[in-house]
Amino acid sequence: MRGNPSDEMRDRIRGARRWLVLTGAGISAESGVPTFRGAGGLWEGSRPEELASPEGFRADPARVWRWYRWRRELIRGVEPNEGHRAIARLERCVPELCLATQNVDGLHERAGSRNLLELHGNLLRSHCLEGCSAETTEDPEAAVPLCRCGAPLRPSVVWFGETLDEQVLREAFARCERCDVCLIVGTSGVVYPAAALPGIARQAGALLIEVNPEETPLTGLCDRSIRGPAAQQLPAWMRECGWEEEPTPPAGV
Ligand code: APR
Repeated sequence: MRGNPSDEMRDRIRGARRWLVLTGAGISAESGVPTFRGAGGLWEGSRPEELASPEGFRADPARVWRWYRWRRELIRGVEPNEGHRAIARLERCVPELCLATQNVDGLHERAGSRNLLELHGNLLRSHCLEGCSAETTEDPEAAVPLCRCGAPLRPSVVWFGETLDEQVLREAFARCERCDVCLIVGTSGVVYPAAALPGIARQAGALLIEVNPEETPLTGLCDRSIRGPAAQQLPAWMRECGWEEEPTPPAGV
């Protein structure tokens, strides 16, 4: 029985203290941000893997910057949706929640999520390709903006073939090892190491819930699969669990 929750599952959910939420591009789909592997995932005929890689940048940095500027414009013009807001509300309803997102669009933060691990960085920031720490203002007119040291700037995201920030990844794994519930939303579950996180949570005995209109390689691990778009399904699931409203703030202050 994977579709509807039993009373026992609802009790486990309501009694859970430590939550790990893993999100991917699907959570932002209803805000109008295309997913990577769905329709609209190509940009000027290229797959993300060709653009978001050190090789892609070396081959044509101006093109890669055009893609990121297009994506920046896109996300500046959209709003967080009910799915992002439900996760931010969940954080205020449960004792401890860590949100590990693969998204680089900043929409979770704008929706009010606080305890956030951006596994793949944030595309609104940039840094020196050579790794120097000079304070630099990004020239919006330059085809390839340069650092003060003269090296190109690059968007502060993790590209294919690169390793994730060690501290961020360590924290995400540690949270998975001790979570009671792992909620997986809008990820195809094919990009590692993020896709390994639910397996760690499973091994630790956590309850796994997936929200996705489609089956994924992670579905088989899950105790419950909620099929449908996150902006509709997450608020409905919260109501079903009994979290109708914002939690009442502590009295007094
Ligand atoms: N609600 C929930 N899930 C959705 C929705 C929606 N409205 N629409 C689509 N999805 C699901 C798709 O079914 C798919 O499983 O979201 C998933 C999106 O998958 P991908 O495009 O592969 O995105 P993601 O899993 O985040 O990709 C991982 O790969 O390209 C790299 O670094 C990039 O962070 C990205 C990583």
